[in-house]
This record gives sequence, C-alpha cells and structure tokens, in this order.
Amino acid sequence: MTDLGWPHTTPDSAGPLGWPGRDKPGPVPGPVPVPEPSLPDYRPVDLATDPLPPAPSEPVDRIRQALRDESADTPIGQAAAAAVRVMNPSGSHDFPKPARRRILTVANQKGGVGKTTSTVNLAAALALHGATVLVIDLDPQGNASTGLGAPHSSGTPSIYEVLLDNVPIADVVQTSPDIPSLRTVPATIDLAGAEIELVSVVARESRLQRAIAAYVDGPGSDVDFVLVDCPPSLGLLTLNAMVATEEVLIPIQCEYYALEGLGQLLKTIELVKANLNPRLAVSTILLTMYDARTRLADQVAAEVRSHFGDTVLTTMIPRSVRVSEAPGYGQSVVTYDPGSRGSVAYLEAAREIAVRGASI
Ligand SMILES: Nc1ncnc2c1ncn2[C@@H]1O[C@H](COP(=O)(O)OP(=O)(O)O)[C@@H](O)[C@H]1O
Ligand SMILES: [Mg+2]
Repeated sequence: MTDLGWPHTTPDSAGPLGWPGRDKPGPVPGPVPVPEPSLPDYRPVDLATDPLPPAPSEPVDRIRQALRDESADTPIGQAAAAAVRVMNPSGSHDFPKPARRRILTVANQKGGVGKTTSTVNLAAALALHGATVLVIDLDPQGNASTGLGAPHSSGTPSIYEVLLDNVPIADVVQTSPDIPSLRTVPATIDLAGAEIELVSVVARESRLQRAIAAYVDGPGSDVDFVLVDCPPSLGLLTLNAMVATEEVLIPIQCEYYALEGLGQLLKTIELVKANLNPRLAVSTILLTMYDARTRLADQVAAEVRSHFGDTVLTTMIPRSVRVSEAPGYGQSVVTYDPGSRGSVAYLEAAREIAVRGASI
C-alpha cells in the first residue's frame, strides 16, 4: 500500500512533469529521469500489431489476444471476437466475486482526467461479467448519468433528494437500459447547490454513508460494487464520498501537469482517514488517456508507477475517439463499441480490480 503521507509539497518545488519535489525544493534541471522499467513485462504497444507471446499472462497480452483472435482473420472479425469477450453474451460470472461488498470513490479534483469515463466503463464491465453494480453520480453535471443512459433532467428524483431530503436510494435508483445488473443513482443540476445547502445540515459529511448503508441493508443487498463518481473538487460532496467508502480509485491522465494537485488529494484522504473514516485508503490508481505515440505519456506512467507501485493497475486506458464518442449515445464504450481498444482496456482494468478485491 502506498505511503499516503507523501509528498511534502511546497509551492515552488515542482519537479519534472509537475510532480512536487521530495527532498530539496527548487527547480529540477535537465531531462526527466525515466526509471529503469521495473514493471512486469509491461511495454506500451500498438495493441493491434505487436506479436503475441505464447501464453497470455499480463493484461496487455490478453488485450492483444482479444483484439486478434486466431479464428478471425479480418479486422472486422477480430473486433467482433473482442466484442464477444467484452459483452460476455453467455452471462458467465468469469470475474471473481469480491470477498465482501466493495465501495469505491472515484476521485481527483482535477477535471477531465477520466473519472466519469472510468466510473461508467468499469461499472459496465464489472456488471457484464457477473457483478451487480451501483453507480452513484455525485457530480452536478450528471455526466455519469448520461453515460449510463439514466435520465437526469432537473426535477428527476436523484442523489440530491437522497442527500438533502432523506429520500432512500431505492426510490431514485434507475436500472441501466443495456445491462440489467447495473444501476444508477442519477445526478441533476439541482446538486449544484448541494455543496452550500449541506453546510447547515446535521451530519453533513455522512449523509451518503447512511444512505448507502440503508440501501445495502435492504433492497440493495445484492450489490457487489458501489462506484461513486465525484465532482472535480474537494468539497462536501467528495467528502461525503470519502466518508462512505473504504477505497479511493484515482484516475490519472497521462499528460503534463497530471500529477499536480495529487499531493492535495492525498492530504485530504489522510485527513478524512485520521478524523472521519479510518478505513479509507487509496486502493487503485488508473492511468487514463494513454497515447503510445508520445514519450511524455511513458514518462508520466513511469513517474506514477515509481511513486505508487502496485497500487497502479497494469492496464492503462488508451486515448481513443470511441471512448469519447460513447456518452453522446447514452452509453459506455463497453456497450457502444465493445470491440474497440478502449472497451477492451476497460474490461482488463475491471478484471484487475475484481481479481485484487477477491484476494483481500
Ligand atoms: N480514453 C479516452 N480517450 C479519449 N477521450 C477520453 C478518454 N477518457 C476520457 N475521455 C474524454 O475526456 C473528457 C473528460 O473525461 P471525463 O471522464 O469526463 O473526466 P472527469 O470526469 O475526470 O472530468 C471527456 O470528454 C471524455 O469523453
Ligand atoms: Mg466527471
């Protein structure tokens, strides 16, 4: 597990890639040091063209194999074969069930890093492979609701009523039109006022925790995973998510400045852990929008892995137009274009999360 006390940030100690300096503050000249790869045989690759190793063991190998099934000798055939693996039409429960229910907060106060996209697609992939999944949209923009095909126009019963009016989750939850074992608590624009309205409410930071507890003790007792999609801020909504969960999943975009602000996020998690929720920990870091053509993406990935070690999933999510198109159709990329690289990568990331949780 990562040492969450790190890093000790000072404003003028930004290192390469925006990462705060550790020992000596001050600018760090020269090229960015890329540590010797200590990853288990992980090299970013063009997933469609690199040769296959004999036995797929690492996620990247399975992605390659999924994308070029031997029985399919045309690109369309290969995509179709990958799609079948993702969509799992037989409905087999081929991911391990969690040892106990897992509640994950997907948080990063930076906007546009892939929180919502990851929440939606990991949830869809887990649900397609045997889990019952509840997604809670905690962002007033309601992007996760859009991506999961859950109506969320103003006035729709939503997480706002759950947090402010004590309405049970069971009364506002919607079942996915595409995946029966996937449920969404939508967010409407009404939630925009909640940060302020919550301030004067009793037990303001544990409203979500109580609501989830009541749901899983009753009508939601079949839920295996709860994923909470946070807004891009560290306000009362994100605080509610951190109090309600044990695991934080941090998506990190493979871009310049990706690591800036991470120290603040880790400090917030430490504060919540010390004062409100001793079980809280960063369990998972997911590298998103990885572009194999840029050296920068590799540098960011290496930097993140050197600091966070095994917390970082081996699978990285590639930058892909299909991923960004899917919400326009009210879908995850997993259902919109299941044979695409982004979809297969989210399937593999979900598999890693499921496997890790099974051994806890
Ligand atoms: N792997 C990806 N490839 C291409 N575009 C992506 C990818 N992941 C996310 N995006 C796009 O980037 C934007 C920000 O992603 P989003 O998940 O909404 O971030 P956040 O929730 O952290 O603000 C969205 O337009 C989304 O469609
Ligand atoms: Mg979002």
